[in-house]
Amino acid sequence: MLIPSRDSGFNYPHPSEITPRQVYEQRRQMLKLMATGTAGAALAAWAGREALAQAAAVPRPGRLAALPGARSSVAGATTLEKLTDYKDASTYNNFYEFGTDKADPARNAHTLKTAPWTVEVEGLVKKPGKYGIEDLIKLSAQEERIYRLRCVEGWSMVVPWVGYSLSELIKRVEPQGSAKYVEFVTLADKATMPFVGSRVLEWPYVEGLRLDEAMHPLTMLAFGMYGEVMPNQNGAPVRLVVPWKYGFKSAKSLVKIRFVEKEPATAWNKAAKQEYGFYSNVNPEVDHPRWSQATERRIGEDGLFAKKRKTLMFNGYEAQVGQLYAGMDLKKFY
Ligand code: MTE
Repeated sequence: MLIPSRDSGFNYPHPSEITPRQVYEQRRQMLKLMATGTAGAALAAWAGREALAQAAAVPRPGRLAALPGARSSVAGATTLEKLTDYKDASTYNNFYEFGTDKADPARNAHTLKTAPWTVEVEGLVKKPGKYGIEDLIKLSAQEERIYRLRCVEGWSMVVPWVGYSLSELIKRVEPQGSAKYVEFVTLADKATMPFVGSRVLEWPYVEGLRLDEAMHPLTMLAFGMYGEVMPNQNGAPVRLVVPWKYGFKSAKSLVKIRFVEKEPATAWNKAAKQEYGFYSNVNPEVDHPRWSQATERRIGEDGLFAKKRKTLMFNGYEAQVGQLYAGMDLKKFY
C-alpha cells in the first residue's frame, strides 16, 4: 500500500498553532492566579477550555464553497488529535465507483453530478419523503466534529466533518415500531461513475446500521469537511460518518435511506461474508482474515517504517457506544 507524503504547498496551520484571543487572555489570568497561589482547581478548568477552543479553530483550505459548522456539544465529538492534512484526506480515498486505487477517486470523481440531488426516505416510517439536498442541509444546524476514522486496511485519519446527527432526520420521519435496521443506498450511475458495473462489488454500494446505532448522536450525516462542502471524492453531497466502525460503513453519496425489519445485506458482506460482518465495529482483538486490526498507521504522519499506533476498542469511542453492544459476543458479531 502506498502512503502519501506530506509534501505540497497545501499546508495550513494546525489548530494547535493558533491561539485564540480568549485563550491567550485566560493564560494571562492564570499566570496572575499562580502568582497569588490560588491556581489549583482553576488550572484544570482552564486546560479543558483551552483544549476546546483550539479544537474549534479549523482553518479552511479555500478549495470549495464554505460550509461552517458550530462546535458540537455531542459527547466524544471532538478529538484533540492532530488533524490529517486536507490534501491527504482528499487524495487518499476509497470510493470504488471511481476506481480501486487510492488516487482514483480524486482523479475521476469530477464527473459526479451533485446537483440536483435528492435523498429518498422510505420503508417502515410514518413520514416517508424525498428531500432535496438544499432542504436536507437546512434540516438541522451544521456542526463541526473532529472524528478519527479507521479503515479496515490498517490506516486512519482525523477529519473535521461538517453535518449533524442522523438522529435529527430519523426523529422527523418517525420510524414505525417494526423498523429495526436502516439501510443506506448510494448512487450507482454508470454515466458518471466509471467503475459502476465492474465486478469488484455489487452495485449500488449499500450499507446498514441497527436502528439504535443509527440513532446514536455520534452517527453523522455529513455535508462537508474542513469548513467546506464535501469534495466529490469524499462522498458529495452527503455521506454517512460512523466513527466507531470501520470506514466502509460510512457510505458516500447517499440517495436512499430505508427503514427495514431485517438486517440488510451490505455491499462488502455480499462480496466476502467471512471478511466483512454486519457490525464492523473497530475491534483490535478481532483480526480481519488478511489484516491485523491491533495497530494502525495515521495517514500523512506515520511513514511505512514508523512504529504503528495501537488501535483502540471502538476506535476510542467505547465510553460513548460500548453500551450498545452490552452482552454481545463481539467475535461472533464482527
Ligand atoms: N461509499 C461508497 N459509495 N463507495 C465506496 O467505495 N468506500 C468506503 C467508505 N464509503 C466507499 C464508500 C470505504 S472502504 C472507506 S475506508 C471510506 O468510505 C473512505 O472514506 P474517505 O475516502 O472519505 O476517507
